[in-house]
Amino acid sequence: MGENVKIIEPCNLYECYLGDNVFVGPFVEIQKGVRVGANTRVQSHSFICELVSIGESCFIGHGVMFINDVFQKGCPANGNLSLWRETKIGNGVSIGSNATILPVEICDDVVIGAGSVVTRTITKKGIYAGNPARLIREL
Ligand SMILES: CC(C)(COP(=O)(O)OP(=O)(O)OC[C@H]1O[C@@H](n2cnc3c(N)ncnc32)[C@H](O)[C@@H]1OP(=O)(O)O)[C@@H](O)C(=O)NCCC(=O)NCCS
Repeated sequence: MGENVKIIEPCNLYECYLGDNVFVGPFVEIQKGVRVGANTRVQSHSFICELVSIGESCFIGHGVMFINDVFQKGCPANGNLSLWRETKIGNGVSIGSNATILPVEICDDVVIGAGSVVTRTITKKGIYAGNPARLIREL
C-alpha cells in the first residue's frame, strides 16, 4: 500500500497493490495481484478480479464489475487459469456506476457510461456508453 490510502470497511482486499492516495469505498472486493494506481477512487460495491490493472487518477463508480473468465469453453473455467484473460485500464479513466468491463484494454482519458458493458478494447479517448459500449462523443 502507498501513502495516504483510505479504505472504508468492510472490504475484501487480497494481496493487491494500492498506490498513493487511493480511496476504496465499502463493500468492495479487490483480488490478488490487482494494481490500482495512485489517486484512483474505487467506489462502494465494486468487484475487481485477478488480472486487472487500473492506472492513476481513475474513477471506478459504484458497483462496477470486472470479468476475467469469459466462459470461453461455454462454461466457467473451473480453476483453469489459462482460460482467464487480462484487463488493463489506463490513466484518467472514469467508469460509471454499474458498468461491466470484460477483459479489454481501455486507453487513457476515457469515460464509460453508467450501466455500460464494455466488450471491446478502446484505443481512442472519448465517452462510451451502452451495451455493447459504443463511442457516443469524442473528447
Ligand atoms: C455516459 C455519460 C457520461 C454521457 O453523458 P453526456 O455526454 O452528457 O451524454 P448525454 O446525456 O447528452 O447523452 C447522449 C446520448 O447517449 C445516451 N446515453 C447517455 N448515457 C448513457 C448510458 N449510461 N448508457 C447508455 N446510453 C447513454 C443518451 O440516451 C443519449 O442518447 P440519444 O442521443 O439517443 O438521446 C453519462 O450519461 C453517464 O452515464 N455518466 C456516468 C455517471 C456515473 O455513473 N457517475 C458515478 C458517480 S454518481
